[in-house]
Amino acid sequence: MRLSRPALPRALRRATAGVATLAAAGLLAATAPAALAAPSPTLAAPDIPLANVKAHLSQFQSIATANGGNRAHGRPGYKASIDYAKAKLDAAGFTTTVQQFTSSGATGYNLIADWPGGDPNKVLMAGAHLDSVSSGPGINDNGSGSAGVLETALAVSRAQLEPTKHLRFAWWGAEELGLIGSKYYVNNLPSTERSKVSGYLNFDMIGSPNPGYFVYDDDPVIEKTFKDYYAGLNVPTEIETEGDGRSDHASFKNVGIPVGGLFTGASRTKSSAQAQKWGGTAGQAFDRCYHSSCDTTANINDTALDRNSDAIAHAVWTLGTETPVPPGDTYENTADVAIPDNGAAVTSTVNVTGRTGNAPATLKADVDIRHTWRGDVVVDLLAPDGTAYRLKNSSGNDSADNIIATYTVNASSEAANGAWKLRVQDVAAQDTGYINSWKLTF
Ligand code: TRP
Ligand code: ZN
Ligand code: CA
Repeated sequence: MRLSRPALPRALRRATAGVATLAAAGLLAATAPAALAAPSPTLAAPDIPLANVKAHLSQFQSIATANGGNRAHGRPGYKASIDYAKAKLDAAGFTTTVQQFTSSGATGYNLIADWPGGDPNKVLMAGAHLDSVSSGPGINDNGSGSAGVLETALAVSRAQLEPTKHLRFAWWGAEELGLIGSKYYVNNLPSTERSKVSGYLNFDMIGSPNPGYFVYDDDPVIEKTFKDYYAGLNVPTEIETEGDGRSDHASFKNVGIPVGGLFTGASRTKSSAQAQKWGGTAGQAFDRCYHSSCDTTANINDTALDRNSDAIAHAVWTLGTETPVPPGDTYENTADVAIPDNGAAVTSTVNVTGRTGNAPATLKADVDIRHTWRGDVVVDLLAPDGTAYRLKNSSGNDSADNIIATYTVNASSEAANGAWKLRVQDVAAQDTGYINSWKLTF
């Protein structure tokens, strides 16, 4: 409720410096003049040869064929798959660990491969479950993800990559029994080690024969990394919705580790809209051989497998080689923006570039708004994805001039890079003003 307000706005009662320049100021372009962050160079990923990925799939198929038609937990085909991948990784210079666990009365195995070097306090993980169901060889589910991650690891070795993050690749056992292997790994990781894992990338079914291109909707930075890759190919993606929590990323997500991943679809049916944008057959499952004996090397779409293998490498290179930007950088917009009296909201933008990861939990917004009755004004900070953070409400009895204040915002769920906006609205008649300047400190 508004307390008594003089009949004339204070701008007319008092000569207020700055207000006279509003008309001119309002026409100025609201570009961000100052972006002080150092660039964050990342190395470009190599092309992952499809033939190499398919050669791994042929080996997984041969292993299944020689071992009763599957590579399931507790069956000899599973251990043979572990041995195959481990031998490749050992020869390539990885430090490998086989972690044993017991499930349903059988010994299970996780394979962990560390690439020497990188910041031990910032571990980037990529993984895939290596077990099949017992009813088939599991070439799409999940030879595809296993082979894509394996060939990406081998590409790291071929490049003799010197990442900024420490890279760790993983192949999980007994996923098909309820994410058993990945849960075992996470549960046995001491909390100090857990907190060093800056991200986990999951690949489960990435070569479905009637493929969709699905990106997990989890950590925004990881998600954007995959979307950027696909944007570069001009291939549309959709958010993965065929069962969030149905693969090993859930084991990581459950303890607060940022996750992401790719998926080409399981038993769900491809819609006609999806067939239009991706090709393939509408009204048919993404993978008609899901969890069945026909999940063989014939059950793979090469284009999907090729794109997703390259996407794995893109994410590992992009997220694994980025140079951290130190805190304290500011991004400012000093262009004046007029705030119409009792009118529509106006915005001023700062473009944040060159940072890595999310915004801090203590993002500082320094706001300088000149106004003759600050109670009229509502101020929000808009993150690049449009999420609004209320900095200041209107108030009927706050008759002071100007809003010159520093607000601290927990923006830790927002990607740092992008167009941040200060949104200002004057919601009561008579007094008016302008955005003088504002800045963000990361
Ligand atoms: N192995 C998974 C499962 O059987 C396959 C799957 C279904 C999946 N939906 C998913 C994998 C969504 C990742 C995301 O449950
Ligand atoms: Zn799977
Ligand atoms: Ca007003």
